[in-house]
Amino acid sequence: SACGTKSTGEKKSEDVIKIGVNLELSGNVASFGQSALNGFTLALDEINAAGGINGKKLEIIKYDNKSDNTEAASVATRLITQDKVPIIFGAVTSGNTMAFINIAEANKVPVLTATATNPDVTVDPKTGKVREYVFRTCFIDPFQGTAMAKFATEELKVKRAAILKDNTSPYSVGLAKFFTEGFKAGGGEVVADENFTVNDQDFRSILTKIKNLNPDFIYVPAYYEQVGQIVKQAREMGINVAFGGSDGWDSPKLIEIAGKDALKNCYITNHYSPDRDDPKVKEFVKKYKEKYGNVPDALAALGYDTGYVLAAALKNAKEITPEAIKDALKNVKDVEGVTGKISIDEQHNAKKGLVILEFVDGKQTYKKFIEP
Ligand code: PHE
Repeated sequence: SACGTKSTGEKKSEDVIKIGVNLELSGNVASFGQSALNGFTLALDEINAAGGINGKKLEIIKYDNKSDNTEAASVATRLITQDKVPIIFGAVTSGNTMAFINIAEANKVPVLTATATNPDVTVDPKTGKVREYVFRTCFIDPFQGTAMAKFATEELKVKRAAILKDNTSPYSVGLAKFFTEGFKAGGGEVVADENFTVNDQDFRSILTKIKNLNPDFIYVPAYYEQVGQIVKQAREMGINVAFGGSDGWDSPKLIEIAGKDALKNCYITNHYSPDRDDPKVKEFVKKYKEKYGNVPDALAALGYDTGYVLAAALKNAKEITPEAIKDALKNVKDVEGVTGKISIDEQHNAKKGLVILEFVDGKQTYKKFIEP
């Protein structure tokens, strides 16, 4: 009965800290949610094995937001009102996170995302004010977009960029804007700025239009399902120029969809490379592989680091309440992660470097590190 369930829950709640998880475990970007959850779970398991937080074990309460805005909002409501979690981890994408931050703020429950990079996630663009209850452990898109613009201009030496973006995604729209600003500032010209939507599968007519404008570079700040089709179809049409991409390309599915040959001459910005020569990264990759059987992608790495950021905040929180956890998150400083050293700044973001990766034989290959 509901009554029985509740009393068990209450007894348990004395020795556990419930952590709400709102992730894309199925749908359009399912591989993001799966990886983020794996990394986050690995960290929480380690933290629990080491005694938990002041004797309390961390307990994940997770729901699938199905990569959908409406679902992400109802998952947040469920976590807050039904499960009464003091903190929500998620979502992966900027759009799905933005879909529930108002709910979290209205209920004064903090949100910690490892991955949502659009600036508006932590700062309300209408008021310019920092959102009190929203935090992230990753860099933001002005940095990611301009880094690709600079790389394209200075290293690939291209001058005529075409942009292909999902105009239903705040992430994609934001990155296109930041890239454009950076590319123009570097003396380049944006010869096309084309839109698609998340359900599109056939990009041939947009690509024909782009091809006729003769760009020497195509920037596609989007997620792997669409990116895979775009790159594949472009190559089939004889478009062989370099593609630039963003963290949203990071999925094993991309290679399955596009094929490794199509991915030749493609470069992306990302949060981490498993190939970095750092003992911390090596140790993480080894542990992750042992548990899940594959090499951790950036989502897994960010999920893992965010588990430790959360632990640092919980250790310092005066009590385990949403309010006290929110206050502690503001003061997170110098958490050494596999994606870099994490401190939460005044804008509730983490200033971290990024990597430029090149697809070589279908494998993301480390090219360059860019300081924050
Ligand atoms: N940055 C993406 C967004 O905001 C999410 C993402 C992060 C995807 C890291 C892949 C890797 O929507």
